Amino acid sequence: MITDDELAGSHVLLTGATGFLGQATLERLLSSYPDTRVSVLIRPRAGRCAADRLTALLRKNVFRSLGERLGEEGLASVVRDRVTVIEGDLDSITLPADLDVVIHGASAVSFDPPVDEAFRTNVAGVAALYEGLAAVGSSPHVVHVSTAYVAGTRKGLVAESALDHEVDWRLELEMALAARADVERDSRRPEVLQRTLAQAAEQHAKAGPQSTATDAERLRTEWVTRRLVDYGRTRARSLGWPDVYTLTKALGERVAEQLWAHAGRPLSVVRPAIVESALRHPYPGWIDGFKMADPLIIAFGRGVLREFPGLPDSVLDVIPVDLVVNAILAAAARFPVTAPAYLHVSSGASNPLTFQNMYMLCREYFHNNPMPLADRGHVDPPSWRFPGSQQVELMLRAGERAAALAERLLLALPPSKRSQDWLTSLGRHQQDLVQLREYADLYGVYARAEVIYDDRRLRELHASLPTQRAAEHGFDPTAIDWRAYLQDVHCPSITATVRRAGQRRAVPTAGGRGGRQSLPLPERTDVAAVFDLEGTIVASNVVESYLWARLATLPRSSWLGELADLARCAPRYLYAERRDRGELLRAFLRRYAGARADELRALTTEALGDALLHRVMPEATRQIRRHREAGHRTVLITGAVDLHVEPLSVLFDEVVASRMHATGGVLTGFLEAPPMVDEARAAWLQQYAQRHGLQLDRSYAYADSYSDRPLLEAVGHPHAVNPDAQLFRHARRQRWVVHRWGAHTGGLLEVMLDVIGTDTTAGARIRGAKR
Ligand SMILES: NC(=O)c1ccc[n+]([C@@H]2O[C@H](COP(=O)([O-])OP(=O)(O)OC[C@H]3O[C@@H](n4cnc5c(N)ncnc54)[C@H](OP(=O)(O)O)[C@@H]3O)[C@@H](O)[C@H]2O)c1
Repeated sequence: MITDDELAGSHVLLTGATGFLGQATLERLLSSYPDTRVSVLIRPRAGRCAADRLTALLRKNVFRSLGERLGEEGLASVVRDRVTVIEGDLDSITLPADLDVVIHGASAVSFDPPVDEAFRTNVAGVAALYEGLAAVGSSPHVVHVSTAYVAGTRKGLVAESALDHEVDWRLELEMALAARADVERDSRRPEVLQRTLAQAAEQHAKAGPQSTATDAERLRTEWVTRRLVDYGRTRARSLGWPDVYTLTKALGERVAEQLWAHAGRPLSVVRPAIVESALRHPYPGWIDGFKMADPLIIAFGRGVLREFPGLPDSVLDVIPVDLVVNAILAAAARFPVTAPAYLHVSSGASNPLTFQNMYMLCREYFHNNPMPLADRGHVDPPSWRFPGSQQVELMLRAGERAAALAERLLLALPPSKRSQDWLTSLGRHQQDLVQLREYADLYGVYARAEVIYDDRRLRELHASLPTQRAAEHGFDPTAIDWRAYLQDVHCPSITATVRRAGQRRAVPTAGGRGGRQSLPLPERTDVAAVFDLEGTIVASNVVESYLWARLATLPRSSWLGELADLARCAPRYLYAERRDRGELLRAFLRRYAGARADELRALTTEALGDALLHRVMPEATRQIRRHREAGHRTVLITGAVDLHVEPLSVLFDEVVASRMHATGGVLTGFLEAPPMVDEARAAWLQQYAQRHGLQLDRSYAYADSYSDRPLLEAVGHPHAVNPDAQLFRHARRQRWVVHRWGAHTGGLLEVMLDVIGTDTTAGARIRGAKR
């Protein structure tokens, strides 16, 4: 039997126990309601069963004080004696028949999920729970946790009563669940696939056809998700709710009324506003991850939000989590006698915090406790002028357009330290813009709300608590001092993790000169270290190699003509390079047609070999040596002609290069096999690893071009060396190691002049090569 202010002797079912509110409710039940039994509904997740998830939960901060009070064994024994785990999803559980109270908090809480996901948990899941409860024949008092925002987009005072709408939840549920099949079908239409394919090709053609196809499929699934999100958001807005979360929560209330209360069973609907960190219990500032207002506060502190589309006089209805838990448990102890009871657990009516006031208190906090900038001092918090949502939207669009243009320009620049630094800071700026866009879209509606949630019933319930109980288990929103709460409790709590993470990030992670490359490599013989040649270990490319050989064969008087011809063909080569690396090689190697293979080999071995070895970057030599010393199999993989790279074979266990076709010792200008570029490299490496028993997830690869992405992705330790802009951007996103290895010799022509100056006979012997 439940007494007026206690749940003594009752059996409580708690859903959503692993969530923010659920953890706090479970902790309160275990710490302050010693005579209750609790069943928790937990679904298995990420390979962990429900019981394991409960064990993990007990190690979280929310149980820290209780654990300290009872000791580890004491807490474990309380859980053993009083807690039962029910494993399952809302729609697939068998419920106990002896329940007195159900606190139903489980919910999909993201504002804009795909429409079917939101409906599955917040409408179908709710219906399944009430049907399951009815099926076991008991009539517990259900405290149905909803949200104040079920009132939808409206202005003025909202009463603590049933929602007034005619929406048919069964029909909406049926349509929402059917939406995915429709959208999946649409996403396979040729017009959609052509768009995704073209978009993928623009980015990935250089990395090969499989990379393009994989990305096209990723873009298609993203399209499906975006479309389903759009279905939900638009349907919600068309019915008067800001997003699919609030729509489905509103329909969830209707399900509870129809399937439970209308059958004469006790129902209390508790509608918290924006739940944030604890005021007092389990300790001031306790919070589990970032909640609704926190990303905004942190982005503001980091200086990312220079403006925000909010109304300065709108009320940001924040309520600390412990007040919500206390209200839920107080409501749970009272049976609503005749009709369902509705409670707003909010602050806006009795102790309003305006958006402007919140901004000023947060600004003051960040002014006194600024967020650190990695190695660059501290962030000065921005000053908002609240120019109105249209103005903010214009600023945002202008910023997005400028960033897109800057990215296109930077991606076209040749790789250099400076262009990479620009790309890095542009990347950060773009992330900030994406965040601002996301926040403006998601939270803008809430920050412009002109609605107040009446809390008369909440205050009546609070006033009915005995004084002693109210002091410890109260939920009076007027007791919150906003300055003290925001500046001494909430902001320090939510920024602590970000400040710690910032400090960790300040420690360099990418290898450069020094950096990670000096860490010892694990000694083992079952791994490979694969190196690309041009741009990675030597500062040259196929054009340079050709020029080495070609100019060496010509009298100096003909050099200008040769260079002019090369310049004339350059646009064709550049175009081929942009489309496909193999195409460039095929087009370019034609220039060797007519050269004698043995003479080219002799020239390379006798004269150019030393120069090539000299042009190996010292960092590359060191890294190759370190891999060899660790027992790794070193591999050179290149699209260059094998004749040219023979001198480098001393550095590697294996050299894989392009082979030129020859007839009667004369090169035809064609290749003997397709060139070893982009995906062909990854495919070759996979077979090679199989043949030699190598573990690719422990192997290393070093390359400089985006076309090497498949090769780099084939190994566990990818290293981008002097990457081109596209690879650099990808490496940063994937947190790969980026190296900047410098050339230690002079320019190509310098080397060539040296070579040809000292050994003119080598050049003089070769005369066949033509373009
Ligand atoms: N946080 C707020 O600011 C706020 C404000 C107003 C109202 N509320 C309401 O308060 C309640 C709790 O919110 P919260 O912030 O604590 O959310 P939360 O941290 O995301 O927790 C949601 C909980 O629901 C569980 N859950 C979700 N789908 C489920 C399913 N299909 N079957 C079983 N369990 C499922 C989750 O389990 P997993 O761990 O397995 O995912 C998790 O335990 C919700 O009803 C929400 O609408 C919250």
